[in-house]
Amino acid sequence: MNSNDTSNNVSLLNNTAFAGKTILITGGASGIGAQSAITFAQLGANIIISDINVSQGQATVAQLQALGAQAVFIAADVSRIEQVNTLFTSSIARFNKVDVVVNNAGIEYTPTPTHLTDDELFLKNIDVNLKGVWFCVKAALKHMLANNGGQIINVASVAGLRSAPMISGYSATKHAVIGLTKSVAVEYARANIRVNAVCPSFIDTPMVQRTLEAMDERGQKSVLGASPMKRLGQPQEIANAIVWLASEQSSFMNGHCMTLDGGMLA
Ligand SMILES: NC(=O)c1ccc[n+]([C@@H]2O[C@H](COP(=O)([O-])OP(=O)(O)OC[C@H]3O[C@@H](n4cnc5c(N)ncnc54)[C@H](O)[C@@H]3O)[C@@H](O)[C@H]2O)c1
Repeated sequence: MNSNDTSNNVSLLNNTAFAGKTILITGGASGIGAQSAITFAQLGANIIISDINVSQGQATVAQLQALGAQAVFIAADVSRIEQVNTLFTSSIARFNKVDVVVNNAGIEYTPTPTHLTDDELFLKNIDVNLKGVWFCVKAALKHMLANNGGQIINVASVAGLRSAPMISGYSATKHAVIGLTKSVAVEYARANIRVNAVCPSFIDTPMVQRTLEAMDERGQKSVLGASPMKRLGQPQEIANAIVWLASEQSSFMNGHCMTLDGGMLA
């Protein structure tokens, strides 16, 4: 893939790399989650898309089925423990096992000075971006311990690695996801469970489009100019990393938080 062509999937992996493997992706109806699902499907995986957006989730599943994948949609709000538990029970009932869990569901944060931020916005971010990952990590670990292992990929952010003024509550949740990723990776390494994270910068998804729309021109320019590459990342560029982290190609990588930012943090 050259630097101008972001459309290809991971060419290091052949199209049966995930044959017989089942991948569960939260927030899989849109953006990074949907693109990851398509990329896994192109490599032979069975897919469970979970999301609160039922119509878009079902549309993504139809796209996966058109690629020849076995794919199902299971609605679940990751911030609700009972829904997460049902999601895992239903997934295992459908495919017998889940090999890879991608904890991708997340919500954005309206940029606001911290002292003026509505607590509800902070608490909602904690609910989805942190509690949601926590519930899914726990459910995944219980299943993978009984199933001889698996892979967990958490979608964090560059906002989990460095300061992120005006979105401090979002940044706090993503820092927490990175701490959770590293701790769990070490704790379960001997159980053949690898746990890694991706830390994207600004990626061209509906989430970022909504954020850009809420900004003035100066803010929009600062977002587009944040990367030395002077462009947004593409969902495919994050999907490629997620798929690679879930593959045997990364078999010695554990507790790693992979930055994908066009050099922004370099
Ligand atoms: N786009 C970026 O620039 C960027 C950068 C860094 C990290 N991220 C992270 O990537 C992940 C995916 O974001 P995206 O940009 O693809 O956004 P997106 O809005 O396109 O997709 C997020 C999906 O999560 C779903 N979702 C929201 N709340 C949910 C809940 N409670 N339970 C289940 N599903 C829920 C949404 O319905 C949506 O389909 C998020 O965790 C986000 O924080 C995105």
